[in-house]
Amino acid sequence: MHHDIERILFTESQIAQRVRELGQQISRDYEQLLGERIFQEPPIAVGLLRGAVIFLADLARAMHIPLEYDFIAISSYGMSDKPGELKLLKDLERPVTRRHVLIVEDIVDTGQTLAHLQDLLRARGPASVRICALLDKTPRRVRSVKLDYVGFTLTEDAFVVGYGLDYAEKYRNLPYIAALKKSAIAT
Ligand code: IMP
Ligand code: MG
Repeated sequence: MHHDIERILFTESQIAQRVRELGQQISRDYEQLLGERIFQEPPIAVGLLRGAVIFLADLARAMHIPLEYDFIAISSYGMSDKPGELKLLKDLERPVTRRHVLIVEDIVDTGQTLAHLQDLLRARGPASVRICALLDKTPRRVRSVKLDYVGFTLTEDAFVVGYGLDYAEKYRNLPYIAALKKSAIAT
């Protein structure tokens, strides 16, 4: 185990199992929604850079339906400047108008990132927007946002890393999801 890790919350095999289940469930739901049209208009998974990359890569392979994917990067302006406002760092490569969009995110904390992203994408006239979050960290939620699919729920306010999640760009490639030691977090 990495020396900055307090404790492992979800192991590599627990994650793999849950991602398989999510992939099957999401696939069935889109099959039901779209029927034969799924071949002409496959859903587009929209991954948030950079945290969702590893989750999206595994989730896409657990989905047995036609699927496209694209990436978007947003960041918060920070505390001093317009709180809650988000800056678009990298837009999608392709339009989502009349398409079925599945937002794929690593973790939902206050809910502001997803609430803004949802508004941004809805304004482009998609056929539907659903959200799949690997982790739903509930204690600090300020914007309520409907999560259609959730991998795991975290009821404690721990800072977690691994499986794509970072602290200052570190720990993303850990194969498990773990709580970081307080001593590893700069204060
Ligand atoms: P929100 O807008 O507060 O919901 O924040 C969501 C974003 O904050 C996520 O996309 C993550 O980048 C980051 N984040 C929140 N909590 C954690 C955590 O425990 N570990 C790593 N990143 C986190
Ligand atoms: Mg993120």
